[in-house]
Amino acid sequence: VASAQVPAQAQPPLSAVPGKYNGYADLPNQVYRRTVRKGFALNIIVVGETGTGKSTFINSLFSSDIYDGKDSPGISNRIGQTIQVEKTRVTLVEKGVQVRLTIVDVPGFGHYVDNSNTWESVVAYIDKRYHEYLEREMSIKRDLEGYSDDRIHCCLYFIAPNGHGLRPLDIQAMKALGTKVNVIPVIGRADTLTSDECKEFKEKIRRELKDNGIKLYDFPAENENDVEDEEHDSKRNGRHKDGEDGKKTPVNSLIPFSVIGSSTFVDTRDGRKARGRKYPWGTVEIDNPDHCDFVVLRRLLLRVHLSDLMDVTNDVHYENYRVEYFGKLGGRNAIEQRSPLSQLETEKKDSEVRINKMKNEMQTIFDQKVREKIKKLEDTEKDLEKKYANWDKEWEAQRKKLEQDRTDYELMKKQLGEIYPQLYSILQDELLRSTNQ
Ligand code: GTP
Repeated sequence: VASAQVPAQAQPPLSAVPGKYNGYADLPNQVYRRTVRKGFALNIIVVGETGTGKSTFINSLFSSDIYDGKDSPGISNRIGQTIQVEKTRVTLVEKGVQVRLTIVDVPGFGHYVDNSNTWESVVAYIDKRYHEYLEREMSIKRDLEGYSDDRIHCCLYFIAPNGHGLRPLDIQAMKALGTKVNVIPVIGRADTLTSDECKEFKEKIRRELKDNGIKLYDFPAENENDVEDEEHDSKRNGRHKDGEDGKKTPVNSLIPFSVIGSSTFVDTRDGRKARGRKYPWGTVEIDNPDHCDFVVLRRLLLRVHLSDLMDVTNDVHYENYRVEYFGKLGGRNAIEQRSPLSQLETEKKDSEVRINKMKNEMQTIFDQKVREKIKKLEDTEKDLEKKYANWDKEWEAQRKKLEQDRTDYELMKKQLGEIYPQLYSILQDELLRSTNQ
């Protein structure tokens, strides 16, 4: 009894017998191998004003023509403007690690005459993916291993480089999206702003984001171990990291990230080939941190915080969705008490409610139809009554007229009967007289 009262954490950790290797020290490697074999699902949604370079940026980010899809059957071949929500899936492999990438490209806000609720469809899209996952999680036969997790891990919100600030539509959209997903604001086509303009524009946007209480993805503090590989890459490429002196710029001062997109290689002034855009006055390189934040954003997004983006999606946003959903279903207690059987019970009740609702609706429609039919019959009856009443009047008038004609005829006949003998004798007298003469 005494030993059972000793708290578990108070016991010193047991070490393995010296020199004996049991194998559990290999667990991290096992987890690593399993994760590599399974690969990752990364789902990114890109939203923002039309023509801000969203699709070009995505191609640049993954250093491949995501939208080309020539080698990947079933993938959309998209050229030109996005006109509907488009889902593009590609599998990228880097050093043996597979990433099943899904890019959801939303038509640019501002594409339609009425944009008032454009972001609502994006929020609905994100919620739908959570709901699909929730249903899969709660189904009696769960298959989360083979299930393609479509929950959105990150929303890249593109801001037009207009130099003025956020549009009311952007504010509303970002406010709504910030509570649903990891929002990362990005200034697209940043090469259209000078460095000073870009700095000012960023400050202005940061102020507006703060004033409007917009929730963004909170970049966690970086762990040096997370980026050890990058040191190697930076040296190999002969390029500095974020700042001139190789020191990292605080992430918060970079938000919103200014990015330039391009999939073509241009000749730089120092004779290198670099991805960028060529202008009559020079070239802009997308991978040059002096020109834009593309490299920093790519590093933060794909190298440093990818796993955190997934964790926040699962632990915060998806959890919020679950709480909200179950809250709507039947209060907070339902969340704890929910089991597959109770879910079935709820579904049964739901379907009963739905059937009863349908029955009531059909009864209402039937009653209404009957009422309409009766009214129609009554109207027809009234019409006929009116018609018959008129016919009666006409017949009566006709009968009276006929009677009058008959009376007139009788009178005429009587009169003719009276004057006929007189006329006859007059005519006879006339005849005799003319004969005698
Ligand atoms: P929608 O599909 O309409 O929402 O547009 P989008 O935001 O996906 O823009 P897209 O990538 O299709 O680019 C629109 C135009 O801008 C194209 O002509 C691109 O070549 C050009 N463009 C893309 N990125 C940049 C950039 O960083 N700088 C400049 N100057 N032009 C860019």
